[in-house]
Amino acid sequence: MFEETEKLILEDRQGEALVMGPEKKGGKKIFLESYGCQMNFSDSEVVASIMSKNGFSLTKDLTQADAVFINTCAIRDNAEQTVRKRLKDFNQLKKNKPAMLVGVLGCMAERLKQKLLEEERIVDIVAGPDSYRDLPRLVETAESGQKAVNVFLSREETYADITPVRLDENGVSAFITIMRGCDNMCSFCVVPFTRGRERSRDPQSIVNEAKDLFSKGYKEVTLLGQNVDSYKWAGTGGGKTNFAQLLEMVALVSPELRVRFSTSHPKDITEEVVTTMARYENICNYIHLPIQSGNSRILKLMNRTYDREWYLNRIKMIRGIIPDIGLSTDVIAGFCSETEEDHKDTLSVMEEVHFNYAYMFMYSERPGTPAEKKLNNDVPELVKSRRLSEIIELQKKHSLKNNLACIGKTCKVLVEGNSKKSGEMLKGRNDQNQIVVFPKEQYKRGDYVMVKIENCTSATLIGRALKN
Ligand code: SAH
Ligand code: SF4
Ligand code: F3S
Repeated sequence: MFEETEKLILEDRQGEALVMGPEKKGGKKIFLESYGCQMNFSDSEVVASIMSKNGFSLTKDLTQADAVFINTCAIRDNAEQTVRKRLKDFNQLKKNKPAMLVGVLGCMAERLKQKLLEEERIVDIVAGPDSYRDLPRLVETAESGQKAVNVFLSREETYADITPVRLDENGVSAFITIMRGCDNMCSFCVVPFTRGRERSRDPQSIVNEAKDLFSKGYKEVTLLGQNVDSYKWAGTGGGKTNFAQLLEMVALVSPELRVRFSTSHPKDITEEVVTTMARYENICNYIHLPIQSGNSRILKLMNRTYDREWYLNRIKMIRGIIPDIGLSTDVIAGFCSETEEDHKDTLSVMEEVHFNYAYMFMYSERPGTPAEKKLNNDVPELVKSRRLSEIIELQKKHSLKNNLACIGKTCKVLVEGNSKKSGEMLKGRNDQNQIVVFPKEQYKRGDYVMVKIENCTSATLIGRALKN
C-alpha cells in the first residue's frame, strides 16, 4: 500500500478528471500535490471535492494557482525532507506571485502543527487530515493576511458523505477509504499521532460509493485502511458489520467489479476474511501483510503484538485456503538494537514465505513515537543501508522466481492502460496483483483479458492475449 514517498504531480497525469469539473470563470484556482500512502491520495480526492463545492477549481499549471496545497507524509524523515524541498520551490515562485497562498495538509501538518509556521515561513495554512471540511474557511482567513491552522483530530470524521473527485483517473480502478486513524501503537510509527483514533465508515456509504464507481465504468475498487481487519461498524438497529462482511457486501455490487484491500495486519487477519475471499471470484487473491521483521525479539520491541511463528502460521492458514494467493509485505531494516543475527532472521523468514513483492525501508526514527522515547536508534546508517540492500536483493530474487513460475500459465488481466514502455503494449494486473503487459491488438482500457504468460522480468509478466 505504501510507496516510498511516492509523488503525484498532477501535471504528470493524463485525463480530464484531474481538473475539478468545468473551470469556473473568475473562480480561484488550486494546485494540489500529494505525497505518501494511498490513503493520502484518497484524502486529496476528498479535498478536491470540498474545494470544488466551494467555488474553487484545480489547475495543473502551478503558475496559474491562487493557492498551492501540498498533502504531506511524515512516515520517514526523507518523506518530510521532500516536502521541505518542494516548499523551497514554492518560495521561489512566490517571489513573482506574492499573493499565492501555500497550504500544508496531511500528516506532516498534523505532526508539526503550529511549529510548521515557524520553521517554514512561506506556509500560510496548516491543515491536519481531519480538518478538510474547514479548508474553505482556512483559505479565507489566510487571504485576510492571517496564518490559518486547524489540526484538530476527530473521533468521528470519516468524510462518509463526500463523493471524492477522482484525481488519479485511469477510469478503471479507484480507492475507497473505509476507515481512518489507527489504534495500534507500533513503536516506530507516527501514524497514530498524525491520523488519530481508529474509526470506521458506514458500510452503506462504502457500498454506495462502489456502486457509483461501477456505474461510471470503474472495474476495480481498493478498500483502504491502516488495519482493515479491525474494521467494525455498529448500526443504529443493533446490526454489526465486520471486515469480512463488508468485503462480501462490496463483492456483491457486481461480479464484474474487482475488489482489493489494504492493509491487513498479521495480528488481526481472520479465517473469515480469507474464506470470504475464496468464495468470491471478484475478490482478488492478493494480501499485503506487513511483517516488518522476522525476529520475534525485534517484533516485540516494535510492539507488533505477533511473533515470527504467529506470522508464519497466518501464512499457512491463508495458503491453506487460497493456495495461489499473491503476497506482499513491508520490511524495516536496522530497527533499534537489531543485531546481525536478527537481520538474518528477516532474510530467512523471507526465504520461508517467498513474497511476490515487498516495500523495504531503513528504520527512520520519528520524534514523539514510543521507539524514539524508549529505545536507542543504535544501528549505524551504513549498517542499515547494507542490510536493506541485502533484503532488496533477496526480494528481487524471489520476485523473479515467482514470476518465472508463471510462464506458461494463463491469467485474467484487467487492463489499466498503455504500457509505459510501448504504445503497442497494454498494461494491467492479474488477480495476484502482478503487473502484466501484452500486445494491444483490439483490446482497451477496462477490458478483462485472458493472457498467456510467455516471459517475465522480476517486476513484470509479459504475455499474449488468448484468442477466444
Ligand atoms: N498500517 C500499516 C503500515 C503503515 S506505514 C501496517 O501496520 O502494516 C507503512 C510502512 O512504513 C510500515 O509497514 C513500515 O514498514 C514503514 N514504516 C513505518 N514507520 C517507519 C519508520 N519510522 N521507519 C521506517 N519505516 C517505517
Ligand atoms: Fe503504524 Fe502500526 Fe498503525 Fe500500521 S498498524 S499504521 S504500522 S501504528
Ligand atoms: Fe500515509 Fe504517510 Fe500519513 S504513510 S498515513 S501519509 S504518514
